[in-house]
Amino acid sequence: MKTTHKPLTRRAWANAIAQPAQEFPPTPLPLLSGKIPEGLRGSLYRNGPGRLERGGIRAGHWFDGDGAILGVHFTDAGATGLYRYVQTAGYQDESEKEKFLYPNYGMTAPGRIWQRWGKSVKNAANTSVLPLSDKLLALWEGGNPHALDLQTLETRGIDPLTQLGEGAPFSAHPKCDPKTGEIFNFGVTVGLNITLNVYKSDSTGKIIQQGSVPLDGLPLVHDFILAGPYLIFFVPPVRVNLLSAGLGLSSYSDAMEWQPERPTQIIVLDRKTLTLVSRTEAEPWFQWHFSNGYVDTDGTIAIDLVRYADFQTNQYLKEVATGQTQTQAKGTLWQVRLNPQTGKVIQLVELLDRGCEFPVVPPQVVGQASPDIYLAVHRDGVDIRQELFGAIARFNTKTDRLAIAEMGENRYPSEPLYADDVLNHKRGWVLTVVYDGNSDTSEVWVFDSDTLDDEPICRLGLPSVIPHSFHGKWKPA
Ligand SMILES: [Fe+2]
Repeated sequence: MKTTHKPLTRRAWANAIAQPAQEFPPTPLPLLSGKIPEGLRGSLYRNGPGRLERGGIRAGHWFDGDGAILGVHFTDAGATGLYRYVQTAGYQDESEKEKFLYPNYGMTAPGRIWQRWGKSVKNAANTSVLPLSDKLLALWEGGNPHALDLQTLETRGIDPLTQLGEGAPFSAHPKCDPKTGEIFNFGVTVGLNITLNVYKSDSTGKIIQQGSVPLDGLPLVHDFILAGPYLIFFVPPVRVNLLSAGLGLSSYSDAMEWQPERPTQIIVLDRKTLTLVSRTEAEPWFQWHFSNGYVDTDGTIAIDLVRYADFQTNQYLKEVATGQTQTQAKGTLWQVRLNPQTGKVIQLVELLDRGCEFPVVPPQVVGQASPDIYLAVHRDGVDIRQELFGAIARFNTKTDRLAIAEMGENRYPSEPLYADDVLNHKRGWVLTVVYDGNSDTSEVWVFDSDTLDDEPICRLGLPSVIPHSFHGKWKPA
């Protein structure tokens, strides 16, 4: 890919996060082009930082923004959208006083050092969602999930059904088994020991089983893999300097140290018992996200992920909050093959040499073979130090075919989400929320999953700008 390094300038994406986003009530969305497919019925939910500024102060990191959720309900009467902040205790407190009060992932609490000691980090509730039958959970990996009304997005409060202790982490990348309805998730806790806690919930969200694995130091574990009968964790060689973060001398983000002399630790658990099958080491790398994993016919596990050579991605994501980025952080799509009984990596292959992120597979193939991966990619020729993702794509791991949905200059799609067609389960739709920097507006774009490189099937206008979001889910009707 030819890369042009233009001088550092403010790019169009920055306008989407320059101001705190405005909530809007349920609003019929105008059809800007095409037609909503008759088989697209259900709700799109997306979570991300809606506000990166308070009282004239910018947040320290993109991950610090208060969670706000876009809901789009698709019915026979058309599409209705609404956008609401998650009413966390920290959000309400800071809204009332109109200033930042709490430490966060990339911020220390305000005040002098001794005034910061012992202050709890604000639950930003900004990372993803988990739609259940009677509620929507807003997820954040450092604490409890918040429960919201599926229709109105009204915040009900900390969700009780997970039955976790106060502040106990329930991470933002749960895995739902499409066959059994079981939900797997994890949370890393810091006490006398640092522990990877693993949770199994029933389909209502109630935790029914727990397991734990000791960790050495406090790493950054953001996502994991469900692969057939296994749960797999890749613990990257990042460790938090606990003295620095614990005393409030620096934020967690600034206290994270890339330690490439350490290995990537591979932890394989049995999903039935939540106990250890194997634990071993591989070369150092970093990943935020996996697309999926499965047990292949030869018994090996194949895992697809977006892999980085180092942890510069965290610096790049910190810079996003300022509206101007300059750090080179290219993640590309890789496949890891390992032996589940030993955890040993058998093969490590780069599948696609193009900057990408947010890899997802259709929900009905989570944990099973899934050649099609949907992901956000950089457009050809852009300076990736300065840009956000400008296209979405489908990559087929069997054929190596890449189908790209081009959106044009200054348009920024979100993570693509796959929605099964309710009338014909052999087909599906891909939904993305696009910020158009040319007109400073946001839209919902729907593509046919089979012809992603064609024009969108339809485009829906949103009443106001939706800032770039992290993750979402599709809940079928
Ligand atoms: Fe994530």
